[in-house]
Amino acid sequence: MAKPAPDDNYRQSYLPFVNVEQFRAKAKSLLPWSVYAFYSTGATDEVTLKENQRAFTRLLFKWRCLRGVSGVNLQTTVQGDTIGSPVCVAPASLQGLAHPGGEVSMARACAASNTLMTLSTMSSCSLEDVAECAADSPSPKWFQLYTLTDREITRRLVQRAEKSGYKALVMTIDLPRVGIRYVGDQAFKFPPFASLPNFSDLHRDPSTKVSSSSISSRSAPDKPLEIVLDRIITWDDVAWLKSITKLPIIVKGVMSAEDATEALRRGVSGIWVSNHGARQLDSTAATIEVLPEVVHAVNDRAEVYVDGGVRNGGDVLKALALGARAVFVGRPALWGLACNGEAGVSQVLELLNKELELTVIHGIVWMSICA
Ligand SMILES: Cc1cc2nc3c(=O)[nH]c(=O)nc-3n(C[C@H](O)[C@H](O)[C@H](O)COP(=O)(O)O)c2cc1C
Repeated sequence: MAKPAPDDNYRQSYLPFVNVEQFRAKAKSLLPWSVYAFYSTGATDEVTLKENQRAFTRLLFKWRCLRGVSGVNLQTTVQGDTIGSPVCVAPASLQGLAHPGGEVSMARACAASNTLMTLSTMSSCSLEDVAECAADSPSPKWFQLYTLTDREITRRLVQRAEKSGYKALVMTIDLPRVGIRYVGDQAFKFPPFASLPNFSDLHRDPSTKVSSSSISSRSAPDKPLEIVLDRIITWDDVAWLKSITKLPIIVKGVMSAEDATEALRRGVSGIWVSNHGARQLDSTAATIEVLPEVVHAVNDRAEVYVDGGVRNGGDVLKALALGARAVFVGRPALWGLACNGEAGVSQVLELLNKELELTVIHGIVWMSICA
């Protein structure tokens, strides 16, 4: 009998998975506890972690029948680039812990699904390797940028992202410090700086303020981000970033109409409503609850995106109906990666797109909010 193709193996093992939750459960059984804890947990008491998902369940569709929906085209554009679906992948650090292929496998899956991937500054694969692995794909990639104390290193990251063909810079603004994560912090020690390839030139260049020797002499090597992260960035830094790049800038971590307005004043091209997957400040509102006020404030002057707690196609449609241009998933993609690398991510994206399509087909016209 012919040996099954890898694809068949994947289908045998993972096709019965009917939802993202089953991917999560499988990932939990496969990953070392410390890695699962790092990926899955939120800040302090995880009030917001639960709320991000719960808030979606409080939004209920109003269902209209006999509207003759014959087919659904999920295609859309983000920052002028066409993508096959509004379901996109959020930046998440250290994907090599989920699967040896790390962000390269993630990028290949996104390319195969013709969707957008955002690469974290703190990735396990270099931004160049991720750009090259799917270079012939038309689907865009964005680079997520942390603003580092040393602006020259930050500038170099921007230049490398530009040179490698990333189509936008996502400036994360919700991380003045790494959040307090009771379970995650107890279980997980961040690997040393040397294993973060986007910082490889930082090790080679002794003239940079943050050299490998200064890193190893610090007292908290388990949190390398804390060492290089600029703790006091302000809106002027958004303007600074804009002054050094021609790429569109998207600010990620906006949770109020006021901040959306501030960002627009600095000429950003996109506003990303996010609370960092509830990993930063606990007891903030769920992102889907904040989305309408941000959409209202932005008033079509920039694209608005959202992430946080999206676990099925219905959630995606709710976010789109409330004005998001695209919707990002963080953990669902990580669970797919942990379960079966590139194929696992593809399966998760396929599942979400299928659910979105079927939800749209039902002829939803609007939602009511259930108190
Ligand atoms: C393990 C993990 C690592 C993350 N790393 C980053 C990061 O490096 N940069 C960033 O801007 N956001 C990061 N995030 C936040 C995600 O981009 C996104 O906002 C969040 O995961 C969305 O929520 P969800 O996981 O419920 O989909 C991370 C999230 C997780 C779960």
